[in-house]
Amino acid sequence: MARHVIAAVDELPPGTRKFLEIDGRPIAVFNIKGKYFGLMNRCPHQGAALCEGPLIGLAQSKDPGEIEYTKIGEIIRCPWHGWEFDIRTGQSYCDPRRFRVKAYPAHVEPGASVVKGPYVAETIPVKVESDYVVVEL
Ligand code: FES
Repeated sequence: MARHVIAAVDELPPGTRKFLEIDGRPIAVFNIKGKYFGLMNRCPHQGAALCEGPLIGLAQSKDPGEIEYTKIGEIIRCPWHGWEFDIRTGQSYCDPRRFRVKAYPAHVEPGASVVKGPYVAETIPVKVESDYVVVEL
């Protein structure tokens, strides 16, 4: 699996998302409460740009009249027909076995491990030959 550097941490604060294309695949990376999740930006229903939809929560009920609202900001609702998917897993709540969006692992790595550094200026070999300083270009 190839690694792709997609943003500096400062560019993707909690609650935001970034759209990109990696190897021809449309992907969105979300920062959900300081953790990062990648999701294919294509709805399995009819192909809408799923990740452009609103972030919502999950309403569940154990008993009639009792509604628990959880996972606030962790569910994406497709902008075309409203299908909902868990950003952490790509799971659909309407039919988890048949409909799932491809999820991609995303995480933070120290800058030094993904960007070659420290930065260096171009160096030019210098040597002394019989009392003359010689620069080689
Ligand atoms: S295309 Fe996403 S719900 Fe229809």
